Parts: sequence; structure tokens; C-alpha cells
Amino acid sequence: MPHVKLHIPGPVEVSEKTFKALCSPMIGHRGQGFKDLYGKIQPQLQNLLGTRQLVYLSTSSAWGVMEGAVRNLVQKKVLNCMCGAFSDKWFDVSKKCGKAAEALQVDWGSPIRAEAVDQKLATGEFDAITLIHNETSTGTMSPLADIAALKKKYPDVMFIVDAVSSMTAVPLGFDALGIDVLLAGTQKAFALPPGLAVFVASPAALAKAATAKDRGYYFDFVEFEKNARESMTPSTPAIPHIYALGSKLDEFFAEGLDARYARHRKTNKMVHDWAARHGFTLFPEKGFESVTLTCVNNGAKPGGRIVDAAKLQKLVKERGFLIDGGYGKIKGTTFRLSNMGDETEATMAQLIAALDEAMKSL
Ligand SMILES: Cc1ncc(COP(=O)(O)O)c(C=O)c1O
Repeated sequence: MPHVKLHIPGPVEVSEKTFKALCSPMIGHRGQGFKDLYGKIQPQLQNLLGTRQLVYLSTSSAWGVMEGAVRNLVQKKVLNCMCGAFSDKWFDVSKKCGKAAEALQVDWGSPIRAEAVDQKLATGEFDAITLIHNETSTGTMSPLADIAALKKKYPDVMFIVDAVSSMTAVPLGFDALGIDVLLAGTQKAFALPPGLAVFVASPAALAKAATAKDRGYYFDFVEFEKNARESMTPSTPAIPHIYALGSKLDEFFAEGLDARYARHRKTNKMVHDWAARHGFTLFPEKGFESVTLTCVNNGAKPGGRIVDAAKLQKLVKERGFLIDGGYGKIKGTTFRLSNMGDETEATMAQLIAALDEAMKSL
């Protein structure tokens, strides 16, 4: 079957170079070879995330760490900030972990605002909040710095942040933000195959985790810290993915992080311009659009052009590209296009040409 290039918002296209790194000869995870591998990428990860804390490698998708964070850090009640499918689901997951949880729900397409979080935290009921920085289902980016600034006012509240579809595409200075957990799966803006998550936890989070009785083993933050000090992981990690992560990190720093962030902004704007050229509006509230994907309004909200999203997807697929036909309750009434990972202005121009061609038949 000919390969259809991925422009869905994760997993995204994986390069030949990354696949090659993934196929490096196997090594044991308790030997010096693995310690050298993790030891080499640790400072790169710390640099990428702006932290002096150790960055952990979790052999799981993002949900493992998202659930783990709740199990490690919620003792009283968690405030789940909800603005789309993934952030809404974190509320269900918190309850499934047996935690007291409250929803801070806004309309899909709206961001989470610091004032709303402040109002809730002022009740004193919560010892943790969950926030998704870039809600992938709606293509909406919440103002992380504004929300993180509340940590100073509520130092005992654990700020748990999912940057699944923004990490590596925008600057995320963990220590400067002052939050407690920052996590991502690596099949999105890292452009690795699915199967690995990375995360970092504050000293306060680690201290609190140590007092949590039912935090389990596989996602025990204390175990991650103890092992990471020795450049190891608590259990057998996905070593091929870690080789591939090493290769990706070398690429990130060869390109330069600022250049990488600028590239994502440029390629994202190309998609915005395409949408405007065809009379579409965007789904997110103005000023809060993601820079890694574009969620095009296709009837979910008033205004703008409406097309048969399934037909558009099919026509674009015939031209060699997979785009997303919308997620959850906005499937079809939105569609999504990713510019995450390795995409350049040249490769995005190819997608846009295919979209332009497809639009002629709609
Ligand atoms: C923002 C966000 N958080 C969490 C997830 C869940 O990730 P996974 O299914 O890889 O665990 C996704 C998946 O698309 C996501 O976009």
C-alpha cells in the first residue's frame, strides 16, 4: 500500500532517520550502555524543558503519566480544567482513580482563563489542578504563563500540565513557570512513533508523591526520580524509542530551539492563510489558536464556509495526505490539519497544494 503522509494531529509523520535510530542494536536497560544513552539525552531534555530537575522517560502513552499524576498528587480534591475532549476526559480519569474531582468546564474552542482558575482555587477546596496547554481536539491553546502565575498565590496546589501537542513547538520553561508536573507523549511535536512519554516533576511534587499511599508502582514518581538519578527507569523502557528520542534531540539542537519555534509559527500560519483563502473560519476563540495544528470551523460555530469534511479528507487522501475529520462531538463540523514535527514551509506547501486541488471538487 502506498504510504499516506500523516497530517493528523498525532501521531505525525516519522522520518527515515528516526526509524533508523529506532532500529539501533538492542542493549540491556541495567547496563552502562543504557546509562550512557539516558545520560546523554538528560541534559538535552533539561535544556528543552528549561529545568534543572531530572526529566523522566515513561514507557506509556501520555495517559499513563496523566493518570499517574492524579494518583501521585491528589489527596484532597482536583480541579480539572476542561475545554475539549482530552481535558474533559481527565475529569473522568480522576474519578476513576477514586479522587474527589470538580470540573471547570468552558465551551469547546474557548481557552481556560486564569481568572476562572483563581476563583475556583480561592475556595481552598483543591490540592491539585489539571490543565491541558494545547487542547488538541479543538486546536486551542490556553494561556499557560498566566495560569502558572497563580502557583505563587496557591503554593500548596499541585499544578499538573499536559503539553502533549505543544512540547518542542513552543518554549516551555518548567522551572520559570513554577508548575509541578509537565508531560507529553512523543508521537506529536517530537515526531516519534507512539509509545513513549516524557515528564518532569517539581521537588514539591516529589515530596507530596512520597506521602501518597495508593500511588501504585508503574507510574510512581518517587521510583522515577530514584532511578533517573542513576540514569535508569523503574521498569524495562522502550529502548528503541529512547534511541530515536536521542536522534530527535540532536536534530532539535542542530536546528536551534528558537528556529524550531519560529518554523512552527510559520507553517501554522500557512494553514491559517489557506483556510481564510477558501472562506473558512477557525474553531478556536481568536487569539488562542494552537501553533501546532489548525482546527477549521466547518459548521460547529456560525460563520464561514462549510464543506463535506469526510469528502475533503478522502480527496486529500487520494493525493497522498491524511488530514483529520474532526474529533468527538465536533467531528465533521470541524476538521484538523497538523503542522507538528518535521514539517517545513516546503512540505506544508505540498499539503496545501493537495488541499487546493481537493477544494476544486467540493
Ligand atoms: C492534549 C492531549 N492530551 C492527551 C492525549 C492522550 O494521549 P495518548 O492517547 O497518547 O495517551 C492526547 C491525544 O491526542 C492529547 O492530544
